[in-house]
Amino acid sequence: MPRPAIALFHAAFGTAPRAAASAPGRVNLIGEHTDYNGGSVLPIAIAERTTAAVGPGEAGVLEAVSTRDGQVSRVRWQEQLPDGWTAYLTGVLRELWAAEALTPGGGARVAIASEVPVGAGLSSSAALTVAATRALSSLAGAKLTGRQIAGVAFRAETDHVGVRCGVMDQTIAALAKPGHALLLECASLEARQIPFRARLLLVDTGTRHDLAAGGLNARRAECEAAVKRLKVELPELVWLASWPAEWLLRLKRALKEPLRARAVHVVGETARARFAAQLLGQRKLKPFGGLLYESHESCRRLYECSAPELDTVVHAAKRAGALGARLTGAGWGGAAIVLVGKGEKRIVDAITRAFVKAYGREPAIRSVQASAGARLEKVG
Ligand code: GLA
Repeated sequence: MPRPAIALFHAAFGTAPRAAASAPGRVNLIGEHTDYNGGSVLPIAIAERTTAAVGPGEAGVLEAVSTRDGQVSRVRWQEQLPDGWTAYLTGVLRELWAAEALTPGGGARVAIASEVPVGAGLSSSAALTVAATRALSSLAGAKLTGRQIAGVAFRAETDHVGVRCGVMDQTIAALAKPGHALLLECASLEARQIPFRARLLLVDTGTRHDLAAGGLNARRAECEAAVKRLKVELPELVWLASWPAEWLLRLKRALKEPLRARAVHVVGETARARFAAQLLGQRKLKPFGGLLYESHESCRRLYECSAPELDTVVHAAKRAGALGARLTGAGWGGAAIVLVGKGEKRIVDAITRAFVKAYGREPAIRSVQASAGARLEKVG
């Protein structure tokens, strides 16, 4: 799997890479738009990975190439912030430099090969930043922990690229274990591995969204406005998700729409994610699936981050008897997950039929397994 990145490095730079690492995309089982509100999330890593092959370069210069277009970009990363995917690498270099985990002089050559589709809600950006962080820190001989790698990758995206995401995607890409989902408390970063071996389908609706330009930053601003108002009620409130679930009435009274709806989603979704992890640990897939449906409804009605294509998939899955289904990731298009018990073929056919009827084309449907997090790859 690391071969395309290594071959590309050779082709672009005429020499062998000195280190390589890969990191996975992810799907979130439940806990949507809770991470940047200090709530809980329950993601798994998927099998598709991004690989970064790296070597030293001219001081202060990043030379980056990807299999997508094969063009080498040159960036003076301390002064310039380019557009597009190399901005993410620029952020990684700056953060590694600050952490003293970059080669002296800070020159780097990076070749990227990715199997994670972009814009499908599978977090291709975290796969990229985590793989690059792992590879570049290893090139410098720095031993960063999984959490430190996630932290570098997270700040690369938020502080440099300017996407105001939470910590979920980078953390699962760094810490995932095969056959497990990760219950992550995003305020404390407390993490627990929960066995996950259920049949899960990923339905890519083929509608794409651009996260930076999309609704994520807007929703985040709404959540901050809600916290500001709720501080009148609870002066020590820091995170929206820490509002006590038993005080929902008080929250509803304090906020006007749309802040009320956003806040009710965040508080409810956090409770659902924690409960879901508990049910999963006890292998109670039926009630677990029920929470997935509830989560989708909350995303659709309260957080307004669904899309008609996603609703079509979830509706068809439910009618065909799936245990649960919901959008996954930021939403506004992208992919949905479907938890299947019995009758997988019937469910797949029903979703396909409903989607073709509504949109005249078939969605891409495949099964996903909880896969491994970031790892070093051999370059020799
Ligand atoms: C995007 C962000 C994540 C998270 C989800 C919504 O994927 O990158 O941090 O906020 O949206 O749950």
